[in-house]
Amino acid sequence: MSARPLDAVRDHAGFADVADVIDQFAEHGYLADERLATTVFLQAHLEKPILLEGPAGVGKTQLAKSLAEVTGRRLLRLQCYEGQDETTALYEWDYGKQLLYTQLMREKVGALVADAPDLASAVDTLAGEESVFFSERFLAARPLLEAIRSEEPVILLVDEVDRADEALEAVLLELLAEYQVSVPELGTFRARHTPYVILTSNNTRDLSAALKRRCLHLFLDYPDAERELDIIRSKRTGLSDELARQLVGVVRGLRELDLRKAPSISETVDWARTLAVLGAEELTAETLSATANVVVKYERDLRRALEALPRMVDPNAVVPDHLPDHGHGHGHGHGHGHDHGLDHGHHHDGADGADGAEVRRAKDLPGRHDEAYYGTGTMGPARPVPAGQGARSFGSRRRPF
Ligand SMILES: Nc1ncnc2c1ncn2[C@@H]1O[C@H](COP(=O)(O)OP(=O)(O)OP(=O)(O)O)[C@@H](O)[C@H]1O
Ligand SMILES: [Mg+2]
Repeated sequence: MSARPLDAVRDHAGFADVADVIDQFAEHGYLADERLATTVFLQAHLEKPILLEGPAGVGKTQLAKSLAEVTGRRLLRLQCYEGQDETTALYEWDYGKQLLYTQLMREKVGALVADAPDLASAVDTLAGEESVFFSERFLAARPLLEAIRSEEPVILLVDEVDRADEALEAVLLELLAEYQVSVPELGTFRARHTPYVILTSNNTRDLSAALKRRCLHLFLDYPDAERELDIIRSKRTGLSDELARQLVGVVRGLRELDLRKAPSISETVDWARTLAVLGAEELTAETLSATANVVVKYERDLRRALEALPRMVDPNAVVPDHLPDHGHGHGHGHGHGHDHGLDHGHHHDGADGADGAEVRRAKDLPGRHDEAYYGTGTMGPARPVPAGQGARSFGSRRRPF
Protein backbone atom coordinates (compact mmCIF):
# COMPACT_ATOMS: atom_id res chain seq x y z
CA MET A 1 0.00 0.00 0.00
CA SER A 2 1.33 3.40 -0.89
CA ALA A 3 1.63 6.04 1.78
CA ARG A 4 3.32 8.56 -0.47
CA PRO A 5 1.55 11.88 -0.74
CA LEU A 6 -0.01 12.67 -4.09
CA ASP A 7 2.01 15.83 -4.52
CA ALA A 8 5.20 13.84 -4.66
CA VAL A 9 4.04 11.66 -7.50
CA ARG A 10 2.29 14.06 -9.85
CA ASP A 11 3.06 13.31 -13.43
CA HIS A 12 1.43 14.01 -16.75
CA ALA A 13 1.71 12.92 -20.32
CA GLY A 14 4.02 15.71 -21.27
CA PHE A 15 1.68 17.65 -23.51
CA ALA A 16 3.37 20.97 -24.29
CA ASP A 17 0.13 22.71 -25.24
CA VAL A 18 -3.25 22.07 -26.79
CA ALA A 19 -1.83 21.86 -30.31
CA ASP A 20 0.58 19.20 -29.07
CA VAL A 21 -2.37 17.16 -27.76
CA ILE A 22 -4.02 17.37 -31.20
CA ASP A 23 -0.79 16.28 -32.89
CA GLN A 24 -0.05 13.39 -30.54
CA PHE A 25 -3.59 12.04 -30.84
CA ALA A 26 -3.55 12.42 -34.63
CA GLU A 27 -0.37 10.34 -34.73
CA HIS A 28 -2.41 7.57 -33.12
CA GLY A 29 -5.36 7.96 -35.48
CA TYR A 30 -7.66 10.00 -33.26
CA LEU A 31 -8.65 13.39 -34.59
CA ALA A 32 -9.55 15.64 -31.71
CA ASP A 33 -10.98 19.11 -32.07
CA GLU A 34 -9.72 22.07 -30.10
CA ARG A 35 -12.29 21.75 -27.35
CA LEU A 36 -11.60 18.09 -26.71
CA ALA A 37 -7.85 18.61 -26.89
CA THR A 38 -8.10 21.45 -24.39
CA THR A 39 -9.97 19.19 -22.00
CA VAL A 40 -7.32 16.49 -22.30
CA PHE A 41 -4.56 19.05 -21.79
CA LEU A 42 -6.28 20.32 -18.66
CA GLN A 43 -6.82 16.81 -17.36
CA ALA A 44 -3.13 16.09 -17.64
CA HIS A 45 -2.21 19.24 -15.78
CA LEU A 46 -5.04 19.53 -13.24
CA GLU A 47 -5.31 15.77 -12.64
CA LYS A 48 -9.07 15.93 -12.86
CA PRO A 49 -11.21 13.19 -14.38
CA ILE A 50 -12.95 13.86 -17.69
CA LEU A 51 -16.66 13.18 -17.98
CA LEU A 52 -17.62 12.76 -21.64
CA GLU A 53 -21.27 12.78 -22.52
CA GLY A 54 -22.74 12.45 -25.95
CA PRO A 55 -24.55 10.25 -28.43
CA ALA A 56 -23.36 6.78 -29.43
CA GLY A 57 -20.35 6.46 -31.68
CA VAL A 58 -18.79 9.88 -31.38
CA GLY A 59 -15.48 8.60 -30.03
CA LYS A 60 -15.95 8.70 -26.25
CA THR A 61 -14.55 5.25 -25.54
CA GLN A 62 -11.98 5.63 -28.27
CA LEU A 63 -10.63 8.75 -26.57
CA ALA A 64 -9.61 6.70 -23.54
CA LYS A 65 -8.07 4.00 -25.71
CA SER A 66 -6.15 6.58 -27.71
CA LEU A 67 -5.03 8.37 -24.55
CA ALA A 68 -3.58 5.06 -23.38
CA GLU A 69 -1.70 4.71 -26.66
CA VAL A 70 -0.46 8.29 -26.62
CA THR A 71 0.77 8.16 -23.04
CA GLY A 72 1.92 4.54 -23.08
CA ARG A 73 -0.18 3.91 -19.99
CA ARG A 74 -2.08 0.69 -19.33
CA LEU A 75 -5.83 1.00 -19.86
CA LEU A 76 -8.08 -0.32 -17.10
CA ARG A 77 -11.71 -0.45 -18.09
CA LEU A 78 -14.80 -0.64 -15.94
CA GLN A 79 -17.80 -1.34 -18.16
CA CYS A 80 -20.85 -0.26 -16.18
CA TYR A 81 -24.21 -2.01 -16.21
CA GLU A 82 -27.48 -1.95 -14.35
CA GLY A 83 -27.34 -3.56 -10.92
CA GLN A 84 -23.55 -3.54 -10.80
CA ASP A 85 -22.15 -3.57 -7.32
CA GLU A 86 -18.85 -2.94 -5.62
CA THR A 87 -17.64 -6.50 -6.01
CA THR A 88 -17.19 -6.09 -9.74
CA ALA A 89 -16.12 -2.45 -9.61
CA LEU A 90 -13.91 -2.12 -6.55
CA TYR A 91 -12.84 -5.40 -4.95
CA GLU A 92 -14.10 -8.57 -3.39
CA TRP A 93 -12.64 -11.12 -1.04
CA ASP A 94 -11.57 -14.19 -2.94
CA TYR A 95 -13.82 -16.65 -1.15
CA GLY A 96 -12.70 -19.63 -3.20
CA LYS A 97 -9.08 -19.01 -2.38
CA GLN A 98 -9.85 -18.48 1.30
CA LEU A 99 -11.74 -21.79 1.36
CA LEU A 100 -8.96 -23.62 -0.45
CA TYR A 101 -6.38 -22.36 2.02
CA THR A 102 -8.48 -23.35 5.05
CA GLN A 103 -9.04 -26.81 3.61
CA LEU A 104 -5.36 -27.31 2.88
CA MET A 105 -4.51 -26.14 6.38
CA ARG A 106 -7.17 -28.16 8.11
CA GLU A 107 -4.70 -29.89 10.37
CA LYS A 108 -3.03 -26.63 11.29
CA VAL A 109 -6.39 -25.07 12.11
CA GLY A 110 -7.34 -28.16 14.09
CA ALA A 111 -4.15 -27.92 16.12
CA LEU A 112 -4.81 -24.27 16.78
CA VAL A 113 -8.13 -24.91 18.46
CA ALA A 114 -7.28 -28.30 19.91
CA ASP A 115 -6.72 -26.92 23.39
CA ALA A 116 -9.88 -24.82 23.46
CA PRO A 117 -12.15 -26.04 26.27
CA ASP A 118 -15.38 -25.12 24.47
CA LEU A 119 -16.74 -23.84 21.17
CA ALA A 120 -16.77 -20.19 22.25
CA SER A 121 -13.07 -20.17 23.05
CA ALA A 122 -12.32 -22.04 19.79
CA VAL A 123 -14.13 -19.31 17.86
CA ASP A 124 -12.23 -16.67 19.80
CA THR A 125 -8.94 -18.32 18.93
CA LEU A 126 -9.86 -18.45 15.23
CA ALA A 127 -11.03 -14.85 15.26
CA GLY A 128 -7.55 -13.87 16.37
CA GLU A 129 -6.25 -15.30 13.08
CA GLU A 130 -8.82 -13.56 10.94
CA SER A 131 -6.43 -10.96 9.61
CA VAL A 132 -4.53 -13.73 7.82
CA PHE A 133 -7.57 -14.38 5.65
CA PHE A 134 -8.49 -10.75 5.17
CA SER A 135 -5.11 -9.70 3.89
CA GLU A 136 -4.05 -8.47 0.46
CA ARG A 137 -3.28 -12.04 -0.50
CA PHE A 138 -7.00 -12.81 -0.61
CA LEU A 139 -8.13 -9.50 -2.05
CA ALA A 140 -9.40 -9.67 -5.62
CA ALA A 141 -8.96 -6.14 -6.95
CA ARG A 142 -11.41 -4.95 -9.60
CA PRO A 143 -10.63 -2.06 -12.00
CA LEU A 144 -11.18 0.82 -9.56
CA LEU A 145 -8.93 -0.59 -6.86
CA GLU A 146 -6.48 -1.87 -9.44
CA ALA A 147 -6.11 1.64 -10.83
CA ILE A 148 -5.31 2.98 -7.37
CA ARG A 149 -2.92 0.19 -6.42
CA SER A 150 -1.08 0.09 -9.73
CA GLU A 151 2.67 0.49 -9.54
CA GLU A 152 2.62 2.17 -12.95
CA PRO A 153 0.51 5.16 -14.01
CA VAL A 154 -2.68 4.00 -15.71
CA ILE A 155 -5.70 5.24 -17.63
CA LEU A 156 -8.98 4.33 -15.94
CA LEU A 157 -11.98 4.20 -18.26
CA VAL A 158 -15.34 4.11 -16.47
CA ASP A 159 -17.47 3.41 -19.51
CA GLU A 160 -21.19 4.18 -19.73
CA VAL A 161 -21.44 5.26 -16.11
CA ASP A 162 -25.07 6.27 -16.66
CA ARG A 163 -25.95 2.57 -16.86
CA ALA A 164 -24.72 1.94 -13.31
CA ASP A 165 -26.84 2.61 -10.24
CA GLU A 166 -26.41 5.65 -8.07
CA ALA A 167 -24.77 3.51 -5.38
CA LEU A 168 -21.83 2.95 -7.65
CA GLU A 169 -21.62 6.67 -8.29
CA ALA A 170 -21.12 7.14 -4.56
CA VAL A 171 -18.20 4.72 -4.65
CA LEU A 172 -16.73 6.67 -7.52
CA LEU A 173 -16.97 9.90 -5.60
CA GLU A 174 -14.41 8.91 -2.99
CA LEU A 175 -12.11 7.63 -5.65
CA LEU A 176 -12.36 10.70 -7.86
CA ALA A 177 -12.07 13.22 -5.07
CA GLU A 178 -9.15 11.70 -3.20
CA TYR A 179 -7.73 9.07 -5.53
CA GLN A 180 -8.01 6.62 -2.73
CA VAL A 181 -10.03 3.54 -1.82
CA SER A 182 -10.86 2.32 1.67
CA VAL A 183 -10.98 -1.38 2.46
CA PRO A 184 -12.25 -1.59 6.06
CA GLU A 185 -10.20 -4.70 6.91
CA LEU A 186 -6.98 -3.28 5.49
CA GLY A 187 -7.09 0.50 5.57
CA THR A 188 -6.88 3.07 2.82
CA PHE A 189 -5.06 2.62 -0.45
CA ARG A 190 -3.80 5.85 -1.95
CA ALA A 191 -2.81 6.23 -5.57
CA ARG A 192 0.89 5.96 -6.18
CA HIS A 193 0.35 7.76 -9.48
CA THR A 194 -2.77 9.74 -10.18
CA PRO A 195 -4.65 7.79 -12.85
CA TYR A 196 -6.08 9.64 -15.80
CA VAL A 197 -9.77 8.89 -15.40
CA ILE A 198 -12.25 9.10 -18.25
CA LEU A 199 -15.93 8.57 -17.59
CA THR A 200 -18.36 8.25 -20.46
CA SER A 201 -22.12 8.59 -20.50
CA ASN A 202 -24.85 8.44 -23.11
CA ASN A 203 -26.99 10.63 -20.90
CA THR A 204 -29.68 8.00 -20.38
CA ARG A 205 -30.02 9.34 -16.85
CA ASP A 206 -28.81 12.45 -15.15
CA LEU A 207 -25.60 11.97 -13.20
CA SER A 208 -25.28 13.42 -9.73
CA ALA A 209 -24.17 17.01 -9.34
CA ALA A 210 -21.43 15.80 -7.01
CA LEU A 211 -19.98 13.56 -9.68
CA LYS A 212 -20.12 16.26 -12.32
CA ARG A 213 -18.49 18.75 -9.99
CA ARG A 214 -15.43 16.56 -9.65
CA CYS A 215 -14.94 16.23 -13.38
CA LEU A 216 -13.98 18.27 -16.39
CA HIS A 217 -17.25 17.96 -18.19
CA LEU A 218 -17.45 17.83 -21.97
CA PHE A 219 -20.34 17.20 -24.28
CA LEU A 220 -18.91 15.35 -27.26
CA ASP A 221 -21.10 15.68 -30.31
CA TYR A 222 -20.94 14.56 -33.91
CA PRO A 223 -17.96 16.25 -35.51
CA ASP A 224 -18.35 19.08 -37.97
CA ALA A 225 -18.25 18.14 -41.63
CA GLU A 226 -14.57 18.86 -42.17
CA ARG A 227 -13.43 16.82 -39.19
CA GLU A 228 -15.66 13.91 -40.09
CA LEU A 229 -14.17 14.00 -43.58
CA ASP A 230 -10.69 14.03 -42.05
CA ILE A 231 -11.61 11.03 -39.92
CA ILE A 232 -12.81 9.14 -43.01
CA ARG A 233 -9.61 10.05 -44.85
CA SER A 234 -7.53 8.86 -41.93
CA LYS A 235 -9.27 5.46 -41.97
CA ARG A 236 -8.17 4.88 -45.57
CA THR A 237 -11.53 3.63 -46.71
CA GLY A 238 -10.61 3.65 -50.39
CA LEU A 239 -13.40 6.07 -51.28
CA SER A 240 -12.37 9.11 -53.32
CA ASP A 241 -12.18 12.43 -51.55
CA GLU A 242 -15.01 13.90 -53.54
CA LEU A 243 -17.40 11.02 -52.83
CA ALA A 244 -16.38 10.98 -49.17
CA ARG A 245 -17.23 14.66 -48.97
CA GLN A 246 -20.65 14.05 -50.49
CA LEU A 247 -21.19 11.07 -48.22
CA VAL A 248 -20.49 13.14 -45.13
CA GLY A 249 -23.15 15.57 -46.35
CA VAL A 250 -25.63 12.72 -46.74
CA VAL A 251 -24.88 11.31 -43.28
CA ARG A 252 -25.32 14.72 -41.73
CA GLY A 253 -28.66 14.92 -43.52
CA LEU A 254 -29.66 11.55 -42.07
CA ARG A 255 -28.75 12.75 -38.59
CA GLU A 256 -31.33 15.47 -38.99
CA LEU A 257 -34.11 13.00 -39.59
CA ASP A 258 -36.09 11.78 -36.64
CA LEU A 259 -34.31 8.42 -36.51
CA ARG A 260 -34.26 6.12 -33.54
CA LYS A 261 -30.54 5.62 -34.01
CA ALA A 262 -28.67 8.32 -35.86
CA PRO A 263 -25.63 7.16 -37.85
CA SER A 264 -22.38 7.56 -35.93
CA ILE A 265 -18.87 8.23 -37.11
CA SER A 266 -18.02 4.55 -37.33
CA GLU A 267 -21.08 4.01 -39.51
CA THR A 268 -19.99 6.77 -41.88
CA VAL A 269 -16.64 4.99 -42.13
CA ASP A 270 -18.37 1.65 -42.76
CA TRP A 271 -20.52 3.23 -45.45
CA ALA A 272 -17.48 4.74 -47.15
CA ARG A 273 -15.76 1.34 -47.12
CA THR A 274 -18.86 -0.36 -48.50
CA LEU A 275 -19.17 2.11 -51.36
CA ALA A 276 -15.47 1.80 -52.14
CA VAL A 277 -15.67 -1.99 -52.23
CA LEU A 278 -18.65 -1.78 -54.59
CA GLY A 279 -16.64 0.55 -56.82
CA ALA A 280 -19.16 3.40 -56.64
CA GLU A 281 -18.19 6.21 -59.00
CA GLU A 282 -20.91 8.61 -58.01
CA LEU A 283 -23.34 8.83 -55.15
CA THR A 284 -26.74 8.30 -56.68
CA ALA A 285 -29.93 7.81 -54.74
CA GLU A 286 -29.94 4.20 -55.98
CA THR A 287 -26.42 3.43 -54.78
CA LEU A 288 -27.06 5.01 -51.42
CA SER A 289 -30.43 3.33 -50.97
CA ALA A 290 -28.99 -0.06 -51.82
CA THR A 291 -26.37 0.31 -49.09
CA ALA A 292 -28.25 2.39 -46.51
CA ASN A 293 -28.63 -0.65 -44.26
CA VAL A 294 -24.95 -0.22 -43.40
CA VAL A 295 -25.77 2.91 -41.44
CA VAL A 296 -29.44 2.61 -40.55
CA LYS A 297 -30.23 -0.29 -38.28
CA TYR A 298 -33.99 -0.13 -37.65
CA GLU A 299 -36.63 -0.88 -40.22
CA ARG A 300 -38.61 2.27 -39.53
CA ASP A 301 -35.42 4.34 -39.74
CA LEU A 302 -34.56 2.69 -43.03
CA ARG A 303 -37.95 3.64 -44.44
CA ARG A 304 -37.41 7.25 -43.44
CA ALA A 305 -33.90 7.27 -44.82
CA LEU A 306 -35.00 5.83 -48.15
CA GLU A 307 -37.66 8.51 -48.41
CA ALA A 308 -35.18 11.26 -47.70
CA LEU A 309 -32.16 10.08 -49.69
CA PRO A 310 -33.32 11.17 -53.18
CA ARG A 311 -33.70 14.74 -52.02
CA MET A 312 -30.33 14.68 -50.33
CA VAL A 313 -28.47 13.89 -53.53
CA ASP A 314 -30.80 15.97 -55.71
CA PRO A 315 -32.72 18.78 -54.02
CA ASN A 316 -35.18 18.81 -56.94
CA ALA A 317 -36.10 15.16 -56.61
CA VAL A 318 -39.80 14.53 -56.15
CA VAL A 319 -40.67 12.97 -52.83
CA PRO A 320 -44.05 12.64 -51.18
CA ASP A 321 -45.07 15.73 -49.19
CA HIS A 322 -46.44 13.66 -46.41
CA LEU A 323 -44.15 11.04 -45.02
CA PRO A 324 -46.10 8.21 -43.39
CA ASP A 325 -45.43 7.49 -39.73
CA HIS A 326 -43.65 10.78 -39.30
CA GLY A 327 -46.04 12.77 -37.24
CA HIS A 328 -43.80 15.69 -36.43
CA GLY A 329 -41.21 17.75 -38.19
CA HIS A 330 -37.60 17.70 -37.27
CA GLY A 331 -37.81 20.86 -35.26
CA HIS A 332 -40.26 19.38 -32.83
CA GLY A 333 -38.96 18.88 -29.37
CA HIS A 334 -35.63 20.54 -29.97
CA GLY A 335 -35.01 23.66 -28.02
CA HIS A 336 -38.64 24.07 -27.04
CA GLY A 337 -38.16 23.30 -23.43
CA HIS A 338 -39.43 19.74 -23.73
CA ASP A 339 -37.86 16.91 -21.88
CA HIS A 340 -35.13 15.52 -24.12
CA GLY A 341 -34.19 12.68 -21.81
CA LEU A 342 -35.87 9.35 -21.20
CA ASP A 343 -39.33 10.65 -21.97
CA HIS A 344 -38.25 10.69 -25.58
CA GLY A 345 -39.64 7.18 -25.53
CA HIS A 346 -43.10 8.41 -26.35
CA HIS A 347 -41.94 9.48 -29.78
CA HIS A 348 -40.53 6.11 -30.53
CA ASP A 349 -42.48 2.94 -30.96
CA GLY A 350 -44.65 3.63 -27.96
CA ALA A 351 -42.01 2.76 -25.37
CA ASP A 352 -43.17 3.51 -21.86
CA GLY A 353 -42.19 2.63 -18.33
CA ALA A 354 -38.78 3.49 -16.95
CA ASP A 355 -37.35 -0.02 -17.01
CA GLY A 356 -33.82 -0.92 -18.00
CA ALA A 357 -34.84 -1.80 -21.53
CA GLU A 358 -36.20 1.68 -22.01
CA VAL A 359 -33.03 3.18 -20.65
CA ARG A 360 -31.06 1.24 -23.19
CA ARG A 361 -33.45 2.17 -25.96
CA ALA A 362 -33.17 5.77 -24.93
CA LYS A 363 -29.42 5.48 -25.26
CA ASP A 364 -29.94 4.92 -28.95
CA LEU A 365 -32.07 7.96 -29.47
CA PRO A 366 -30.65 10.53 -31.78
CA GLY A 367 -30.21 14.28 -31.69
CA ARG A 368 -30.83 16.56 -28.80
CA HIS A 369 -29.86 19.41 -31.02
CA ASP A 370 -31.45 21.92 -33.25
CA GLU A 371 -30.93 22.55 -36.91
CA ALA A 372 -28.66 25.47 -36.24
CA TYR A 373 -26.16 22.99 -34.93
CA TYR A 374 -26.31 20.28 -37.56
CA GLY A 375 -26.85 22.53 -40.54
CA THR A 376 -29.05 21.64 -43.46
CA GLY A 377 -27.44 18.41 -44.45
CA THR A 378 -25.60 19.79 -47.45
CA MET A 379 -21.90 20.22 -47.08
CA GLY A 380 -20.90 23.67 -46.08
CA PRO A 381 -17.90 25.14 -44.36
CA ALA A 382 -17.12 23.83 -40.91
CA ARG A 383 -19.40 25.33 -38.33
CA PRO A 384 -18.19 26.77 -35.08
CA VAL A 385 -19.40 24.85 -32.05
CA PRO A 386 -22.12 26.84 -30.34
CA ALA A 387 -21.60 27.71 -26.73
CA GLY A 388 -23.68 25.97 -24.10
CA GLN A 389 -24.80 23.04 -26.22
CA GLY A 390 -24.19 20.61 -23.38
CA ALA A 391 -26.33 22.64 -21.02
CA ARG A 392 -29.20 22.38 -23.45
CA SER A 393 -29.29 18.60 -23.25
CA PHE A 394 -29.43 18.49 -19.48
CA GLY A 395 -31.67 21.45 -18.87
CA SER A 396 -34.90 19.55 -18.50
CA ARG A 397 -33.82 16.63 -16.34
CA ARG A 398 -32.38 18.39 -13.33
CA ARG A 399 -32.21 16.76 -9.97
CA PRO A 400 -33.95 18.45 -7.11
CA PHE A 401 -30.66 19.77 -5.74
N1 LIG B 1 -12.19 11.74 -33.37
C1 LIG B 1 -12.07 10.54 -33.94
N2 LIG B 1 -10.99 10.22 -34.65
C2 LIG B 1 -10.87 9.00 -35.21
N3 LIG B 1 -11.80 8.04 -35.13
C3 LIG B 1 -12.91 8.30 -34.44
C4 LIG B 1 -13.10 9.56 -33.79
N4 LIG B 1 -14.29 9.55 -33.17
C5 LIG B 1 -14.82 8.34 -33.41
N5 LIG B 1 -14.01 7.58 -34.16
C6 LIG B 1 -14.29 6.23 -34.66
O1 LIG B 1 -15.59 5.88 -34.24
C7 LIG B 1 -15.57 4.64 -33.55
C8 LIG B 1 -16.64 4.65 -32.48
O2 LIG B 1 -16.21 5.41 -31.38
P1 LIG B 1 -16.48 4.99 -29.87
O3 LIG B 1 -16.65 3.52 -29.75
O4 LIG B 1 -15.43 5.62 -29.05
O5 LIG B 1 -17.87 5.68 -29.64
P2 LIG B 1 -18.61 5.99 -28.28
O6 LIG B 1 -18.80 7.45 -28.23
O7 LIG B 1 -17.89 5.35 -27.15
O8 LIG B 1 -20.00 5.28 -28.53
P3 LIG B 1 -20.96 4.48 -27.51
O9 LIG B 1 -21.69 5.51 -26.74
O10 LIG B 1 -21.85 3.70 -28.42
O11 LIG B 1 -20.08 3.60 -26.68
C9 LIG B 1 -14.15 4.50 -33.03
O12 LIG B 1 -13.76 3.17 -32.90
C10 LIG B 1 -13.33 5.21 -34.08
O13 LIG B 1 -13.00 4.31 -35.10
MG1 LIG C 1 -18.38 3.76 -25.90
